[in-house]
Amino acid sequence: MALQLVPLGEAAGVEVRGIDPRAVTGPDLEALLSAWRDHLVLLIRGTALTDPELIAFARVFGALDPPGPNAYGAPFLPDFPELNVISNVVKDGQPIGGLGAGEAVWHADMTYQDRPPKAAVLHAIELPESGGDTYFANMITAYETLPGGLKQRIEGHAAIHDAAHNSAGQLRKGYKETADVSQTPGARHSLVRTDPDTGRKALFLGRRPHSYILGLEVAESEDLLDALWDHATQPRFAIAHQWRVADTLIWNNLCLLHRRDPFDDSARRIMHRAQIAGDHPVA
Ligand code: SIN
Repeated sequence: MALQLVPLGEAAGVEVRGIDPRAVTGPDLEALLSAWRDHLVLLIRGTALTDPELIAFARVFGALDPPGPNAYGAPFLPDFPELNVISNVVKDGQPIGGLGAGEAVWHADMTYQDRPPKAAVLHAIELPESGGDTYFANMITAYETLPGGLKQRIEGHAAIHDAAHNSAGQLRKGYKETADVSQTPGARHSLVRTDPDTGRKALFLGRRPHSYILGLEVAESEDLLDALWDHATQPRFAIAHQWRVADTLIWNNLCLLHRRDPFDDSARRIMHRAQIAGDHPVA
């Protein structure tokens, strides 16, 4: 069957039909990578992947970036440390993955690094009956529609991207709480990122908690960040994804924010995730 692209929503994303992620080559591979550049989110349904298959498929998009340190100080999958586990399941008193069952607020992954991952590949293994939907907001459109006054105010400004907490707000191993946001540890990135390959500009916000715009009074930084986040997280820039087992989602981590709904903690949700290393420091 020929490869088909079916839009996931107006803001971003396509479902890719007619390919087997375990064996994608030739013109199908070119079409897949071109869809990835154009649409920012790709969904492939109905093929359960083993960990080696997930790793092999993720490598189609670039070299892998290992997960950041988790709160437990050891990889969740010792045989495949290049993969992360997103799960609420606890086995023998120890979580098998990160993030639990709570809401994960809007964020991009690991932007506390100078060279954050450019993409994530998330594969659904076990799901609750409801809840746990994942949302993606298009930061290219958010930048393009930014009111002129806000565009001017952020021109040339950079922000600190917090390294101390994960997406669930948990403190990472080796960090301590900092009350003054201007002292937040983490990389400093321009608020507007220009993609070196496509020239497209996108708002680059990372995470709202503990963020700080360099050179501003803390109160002014808070006001400006609130205005940017209010604009960037409007429903018109976002799509929602309701998971099915054996779904694989690939998303652009540098041009999108994502968030996840909470779900019933007595249900099980297990996802395995690969990350693709960024090609460049954020400019
Ligand atoms: C995340 O990467 O923030 C989690 C996404 C998800 O669990 O669906």
